[in-house]
Amino acid sequence: MPILKMSEVDLHGKRVFMRVDFNVPIQAGKVSDDTRIRAAVPGIREALAQRARLMLVSHLGRPTEGEFSEKDSLAPIARHLSALLGEGVPLRRGWLEGGSVEPGRAVMLENCRFNKGEKENDDALAKRMAALCDVYVNDAFGAAHRAEASTHGIAKYAPVACAGPLMAAEIEALSKALHRPARPLVAIVAGAKVSTKLAVLGALAEKVDRLIPGGGIANTFMLAAGMKIGKSLAEPDLVGEATKIMAILRDKGSEVPLPVDVVCAKEFSATADAAIKPAAEIDDDDMILDIGPRTAAAFAKRLSDSGTIVWNGPVGVYEFEQFGQGTKAIAEAIAGSGAYSLAGGGETLAAIARYGVADGISYISTGGGAFLEFLEGKKLPAIEVLEQRAKA
Ligand code: 3PG
Repeated sequence: MPILKMSEVDLHGKRVFMRVDFNVPIQAGKVSDDTRIRAAVPGIREALAQRARLMLVSHLGRPTEGEFSEKDSLAPIARHLSALLGEGVPLRRGWLEGGSVEPGRAVMLENCRFNKGEKENDDALAKRMAALCDVYVNDAFGAAHRAEASTHGIAKYAPVACAGPLMAAEIEALSKALHRPARPLVAIVAGAKVSTKLAVLGALAEKVDRLIPGGGIANTFMLAAGMKIGKSLAEPDLVGEATKIMAILRDKGSEVPLPVDVVCAKEFSATADAAIKPAAEIDDDDMILDIGPRTAAAFAKRLSDSGTIVWNGPVGVYEFEQFGQGTKAIAEAIAGSGAYSLAGGGETLAAIARYGVADGISYISTGGGAFLEFLEGKKLPAIEVLEQRAKA
């Protein structure tokens, strides 16, 4: 459904309330990964170029509402953003009381989750926020799955509500991959959060031509196929789900590929000895921590001749050097495939950075939970409300 885009709105001299997702990792008072901040900079620059009176607002962490906590303050983020923009972005507390901003300047409003009612999407709070602005811009795709006062409620009451360029680009990229894909469409979903990811795989099974599970999810599929997995991470309760997904793919003339070889260890540690073995020879005390080289080559082949690839999650414990080869091979296969490739999720982004393949991925989403829920086919409330406003 269509939504109004910021590029279609005149921002000159307007009070613009821009919701961004600056929920980024902070270490020792400094931003340690600024991917999300950099992704929002084009929208911020565009608004400033139009001499908007810009108020930037984000959440950080999950603080107790109604209480200020230094740990969740956006101070390090305001400093970081100031450096990126090359101009000071002051941080404002108590901003619900109002306050002016010069045209062509930005202020950062302190963590919106310090406000009582933010998480519950309180209507009175949403109205107070809406009263602060002429235009509400949502450029926080990463928080689009949250119906909170600054992501949802305010969009109902602001005089104008539109999507920023990052939000618009995310919707476009995800829609292209899922709703208008060049075929075959392949999804590779991996990682340790088995139940969450299995739900995503279940939803994707209907849409995709091929499905490749990895990590703890692959282990659950191996169990479903009657294979031994030793003491590897898996969810035996979800074997039924995995079986159903395999049946859906089989009905389409495809099959869910399972590892033929794996990299195992006897313990989960950075110094564990890695042993490559055929999947049929896994011992009871083995933990599968990566796919083996033959499996990686087979998966890479499935990826190489696809039209669209959707990727979420590393296929092994890539944080430990000796269990990273599978994820590296997959990352390189996706980047070298020539397919339209879409990747998202925190761990996936970290793996992309680690193996230096960012340039080969067509679109890298800033969404974690939002990316997964979009893949699941769920309506994201922050997008839905913008659609409703565009219709009205
Ligand atoms: C995220 O990091 O996924 C988003 O910023 C949402 O954060 P939340 O899970 O605390 O709502």
